[in-house]
Amino acid sequence: MKRVLMVMAVAACTPAAMPDAPEGAALFAENCIMCHGVTGRGDGELAQGMKPAPSDLTRLSRNGVFPTERVLSHIDGYTRMDTQPEMPEFGLLLRGDSVPVELEDGTQSPVPRPLAALTAYLESIQR
Ligand code: HEC
Repeated sequence: MKRVLMVMAVAACTPAAMPDAPEGAALFAENCIMCHGVTGRGDGELAQGMKPAPSDLTRLSRNGVFPTERVLSHIDGYTRMDTQPEMPEFGLLLRGDSVPVELEDGTQSPVPRPLAALTAYLESIQR
């Protein structure tokens, strides 16, 4: 019994592979396109007349760097609890095993896998 527990503990600590963009694309299609649009440009079905308008998510890197940290905290709702009620909070949806994600400053942050996948997808659609 003891040995089984140890094996499980080791398995739980093994770093999971970083999810890739296609994994995030599926989550995006399920949870985001109604506002941000199929292409992420902010032209979803619900976007008409919405104020503020859903952001164009293909232009997040317009300053030259993909703002990983801002995107992570935005989606997770940490930074918007009271101030911007327009975008639903995805905190519940985004629970799960954590994977390390590299932030702009080079540090690694443990992030729930679905959130990491969504971020990888968003980074892949920058233009
Ligand atoms: C109900 C409509 C709606 C849905 C659904 C929605 N968003 Fe948003 N989103 C918005 C609006 C409106 C804004 C701009 C206002 C704001 O910043 O909250 C925004 C802003 C953002 C931003 C910030 C962009 C920036 O410039 O910092 C990100 C990132 C984002 N959304 C990602 C997502 C992702 C990923 C999903 C799906 C998990 C999602 N959104 C689902 C309406 C929505």
